[in-house]
Amino acid sequence: MAIRNVVQVGDDVLRQKCFPVEEFDDKLRALLDDMKDTVKKEEGAGLAAPQVGVLRRVVVVDVEEGYFEFINPVILLQKGEQSGWEGCLSVRGKSGIVSRPMKVTLSYQDRNGEKHILKAKGFFARAICHELDHLDGILYIDKATHIEKA
Ligand code: CO
Repeated sequence: MAIRNVVQVGDDVLRQKCFPVEEFDDKLRALLDDMKDTVKKEEGAGLAAPQVGVLRRVVVVDVEEGYFEFINPVILLQKGEQSGWEGCLSVRGKSGIVSRPMKVTLSYQDRNGEKHILKAKGFFARAICHELDHLDGILYIDKATHIEKA
């Protein structure tokens, strides 16, 4: 387990579309363990693999509801709307107002490749949407209606 360096905005790796995970192997487990160490140390609400330079569809989310690992996540359904502040470990010193769905239904695989469905709302749904955007090279600053120095 180790803390990985978080890539900052301006680096092209944050603008790539990530590839699906096909091998649920030791390399994936090491990535997930390192992402956990990194997001805990940085006190983020989540982290996506491209933020540590890995172009795979892997995110972790750390919120009130718990700590989650989502591999090959897909939003199946979204409902409602919420507007609120977001920050990003790859955009230091800023926060912005972003509109997101109020509720999402997510399909994903865990580190063993098992498939799951999860429902999330409020800030949990926001964190999921933010992290999933990273997998398609999208940053919250692309969507924010207002950005301030944090
Ligand atoms: Co982010």
